[in-house]
Amino acid sequence: MRQSKRLQLIPPYLFVKIEEKKEQLQKQGVDIIDFGIGDPDLPTPANIYQKMHAVLESAEAGNYPTSKGEFAFRKAVSKWYKKRFNVELNPRDEICALIGSKEGLAHLFFAFIDPRDVVLVPDPAYPVYKIGTLLAGGEPYFLPLTAENKFIPDLDNIPANILKKAKLLFINYPNNPTGAVADLAFFEKCVRFAEQNNLLLVSDLAYSEMGYDGYKPHSVLEVPGAKEVAIEFHSLSKTYNMTGWRIGMAVGNAEAVTALATIKSNLDSGAFKAIQLAGIEALSGPQEVVAKNNKVFEGRRDVLIDGLNSLGWQMEKPKATFYVWVPVPKEETSASFAEKLLEKCGILVVPGSGYGTYGEGYVRFAITIPKDRIIEAIRRMKEAGIKA
Ligand SMILES: Cc1ncc(COP(=O)(O)O)c(C=O)c1O
Repeated sequence: MRQSKRLQLIPPYLFVKIEEKKEQLQKQGVDIIDFGIGDPDLPTPANIYQKMHAVLESAEAGNYPTSKGEFAFRKAVSKWYKKRFNVELNPRDEICALIGSKEGLAHLFFAFIDPRDVVLVPDPAYPVYKIGTLLAGGEPYFLPLTAENKFIPDLDNIPANILKKAKLLFINYPNNPTGAVADLAFFEKCVRFAEQNNLLLVSDLAYSEMGYDGYKPHSVLEVPGAKEVAIEFHSLSKTYNMTGWRIGMAVGNAEAVTALATIKSNLDSGAFKAIQLAGIEALSGPQEVVAKNNKVFEGRRDVLIDGLNSLGWQMEKPKATFYVWVPVPKEETSASFAEKLLEKCGILVVPGSGYGTYGEGYVRFAITIPKDRIIEAIRRMKEAGIKA
């Protein structure tokens, strides 16, 4: 058997290794407090389940879907964007349903990237931007996100020879893994930058509904003219606790959406129709659950940040996402600190270095566990003498 060279470019997916380690320790009887993967522990709202049950009773649910998605789903996305962001989207050619936004993000590269094309990728970042670039034969050029630049990339510092070869610019706010947010002025800057440099601006908005303390994230499509240069990826995964359902959407520039749909029609034939119909219920049904869940995450965030600060950290509370990006003590690396937490305290966090070179010096906590477990984690850290 001879595998492709392409396969050798990619390391095992970050969480596969972490899950293996967790399983090993659990077999030894360790009670793991798992701040690892960003998978909400709260349930999918009952109305969405009920809709799914009803849809499954109908015969048509099992037929091939269309690769762009059911028109009714695309219309529901259009209405949701109008209501939430006051952005107009034509369901005919400005919206494509996805089998989760990860699928769409990963396929986008095959529609836009030829060997040696450059992709502007934030560092640290959700790993798919880099891996997708490599799988398509492209070259990532990393844009450092640091505490000094408030985790916002400095577009003015990208060399001209890189820009000439660049085709895509990725942004992700609210941000995984840093929890950082960006204002509309930064989105405006990105749109103008994409116009000037003939780039497709790719906005990953997976966390737009997870804002705290009254903060409401923006869509890049709110910027006038954005639709000329931008595609935005969104998902029902985090908003409605539907990570396993696999339903998301790509919206914005019609040419980019159509290009993505062309790749999809040749590879996956679209998302299960029943899930799209349940997705309509999620987007159009009662929305109170979103604010209710955010209150839960906000409470957990407060407990974690206050707890860490009581151990000597000096952290501000992130305004969005369920991630807390924690600087490691001076004498530690991301990996050594994550290992120490696991071995001394049974606490699982993700080493920041797994998200890129500039993730070194941090670990990521996902607050997808109940408050009492977070309190217990802080207690264990204190007992083990762990300090900032
Ligand atoms: C930044 C970001 N984008 C996209 C995704 C993918 O989400 P999904 O494929 O479930 O829509 C994730 C998942 O964790 C994420 O963190």
